[in-house]
Amino acid sequence: MNKTAIYPGTFDPITYGHLDIITRSTKIFDNIIVAISNNLRKKPIFNLKERIELTRITTLHLKNVKKILGFNDLLANLAKKEKTNILIRGVRTIFDFDYELKLAAINKQIYPELDSIFLLSSKEVSFISSSFVKEIAKYKGDTKPYLPKAVHFALLKKLNNINEL
Ligand code: COA
Repeated sequence: MNKTAIYPGTFDPITYGHLDIITRSTKIFDNIIVAISNNLRKKPIFNLKERIELTRITTLHLKNVKKILGFNDLLANLAKKEKTNILIRGVRTIFDFDYELKLAAINKQIYPELDSIFLLSSKEVSFISSSFVKEIAKYKGDTKPYLPKAVHFALLKKLNNINEL
């Protein structure tokens, strides 16, 4: 039986940390759906279309990343709509864990068949977060160690555009 899993997040922008989880997930499951929340609560600097495109470019080499979609819905409802009952989340440190437990419990209450699977981040990328990377870029630090090349350049361009406003 084909196993499809969904990996959600805000991806503003996608980092090597996210890519680590996606790559390892493709080795465990047959198909991966990457679901990008519009998450206006976080005030993303890349719009949803840009985040989808950057994720698409970054995962082109991973053939079983079946779908990359944006969503503005409850994640549990999206998973049901996409006919998957496996939700992947990456856990970087103990501090992620409390939030993830609550998220998994709420999702399960909405969609009882949905099981959350947690992958521990690889240690080389376990300290990365999209906000840290954006802050480094804002102060003209080097984001190459944390971002795929296309994302690094897109972030530089985005910040230049913002500064020109
Ligand atoms: N390596 C490195 N960084 C990682 C990572 C990894 N493996 N996994 C997550 N991160 C970082 C992200 O960059 C992000 O950093 P930031 O906060 O600085 O931007 C942070 O960890 C958490 O991000 P992410 O994994 O994208 O999750 P999120 O908390 O932004 O998004 C959703 C969570 C989208 C899954 C959740 O909000 C959601 O499901 N929303 C839809 C509505 C819903 O159903 N809510 C639940 C019921 S109320």
